[in-house]
Amino acid sequence: MNILTKDITILAIESSCDDTSAAVLKDRKVLSNITANQVIHEEYGGVVPELASRAHQKNIVPVVNKAIKEAKIDMKDIDAIAFTRGPGLLGSLIVGTSFAKSFALALNLPLIDVNHMEGHILAHFIKSEDIKNPPFPFLCLTVSGGHTQIVKINSPYDFELLGETIDDAAGEAFDKAAKTLGLPYPGGPLVDKAAAKGNPNKFHFPEPKIEGINFSFSGLKTSLLYFVQKEIKKDENFIKNNMDDICASYQHAIIKHLLGKIKRVLKDTGIKHLAIAGGVSANSGLRNALQELSNKQKFKLYIPKFEYCTDNAAMIGIVGYYKFLEKDFVNQNITPTARFKINTKI
Ligand code: KG4
Ligand code: ZN
Repeated sequence: MNILTKDITILAIESSCDDTSAAVLKDRKVLSNITANQVIHEEYGGVVPELASRAHQKNIVPVVNKAIKEAKIDMKDIDAIAFTRGPGLLGSLIVGTSFAKSFALALNLPLIDVNHMEGHILAHFIKSEDIKNPPFPFLCLTVSGGHTQIVKINSPYDFELLGETIDDAAGEAFDKAAKTLGLPYPGGPLVDKAAAKGNPNKFHFPEPKIEGINFSFSGLKTSLLYFVQKEIKKDENFIKNNMDDICASYQHAIIKHLLGKIKRVLKDTGIKHLAIAGGVSANSGLRNALQELSNKQKFKLYIPKFEYCTDNAAMIGIVGYYKFLEKDFVNQNITPTARFKINTKI
């Protein structure tokens, strides 16, 4: 196959957590991107790994079929299968990996393993009319339900991890707070919505004190819990009566912590291009605060399209595209890895 003259069609599979997703990309263009969200976890206030694996098993065939149908391609048009190898829940990763391996074997296609975090970052390179790609090197703040990282990206193949959370991820800080406030999982979007109507300076949550450019969010969640427990003793309707202000003040503390570290990395590296990625990059308060900072400090901010912020297979497909160009394929011995470090092969 001559990759210089032919478009590359990739079928991508994402199953690292609680969303089963399949996408078809022609070069950097998304032809389809189908995601089945698992509502089953709502009633448990968080993702239950065993239930997630079972739901992936149920969803994967219909989701892939739909992605192929919507892309209006034929099976024989597919040049390679890309799949999320990690990081994520092992049981969930096994479903996507096994499916991708079987598919590749049956159709005699190359197989490409993808790091989920690299997918979140390279989602910025999905072809789009209205979004500009960041130039190399750029910085990326990846904030999701499982990770909080600041990465320097030197090329589509070279990622340098500069800092990360030492405990909970930013998304977990949102989701755990939502649980304390009686909101369903995933709580991030609900806290965001309530925060938009509240006063961010009404209540005070202490900013985490962490050396260097790492993050910590577990103390914040605990301080919210103790605060709410104390206030409920005085007024049993405290949460209901103050929901918007609690969410605004708590979200403000998360954003302040993220921004403090971002300012430092921008200064230390001198890089003037900052991208954001991952589910929490959908947060309107964070987007507004970063936009304001970028106007003030004269760096360029790159925000992905909403549908490519949270987990999706299109972002796995774009990494697959770049790896295809390098013929960076794996064989049938490949196994998923729950703790897949960025920029590594193991
Ligand atoms: O990237 P993602 O879809 O999955 C992981 O790889 O973890 O991120 C999911 C996380 C959840 O914690 C969810 O609550 C959070 O992203 N999230 C938000 C918003 N939308 C999603 N957090 C705050 N504000 C939002 N608007
Ligand atoms: Zn993710």
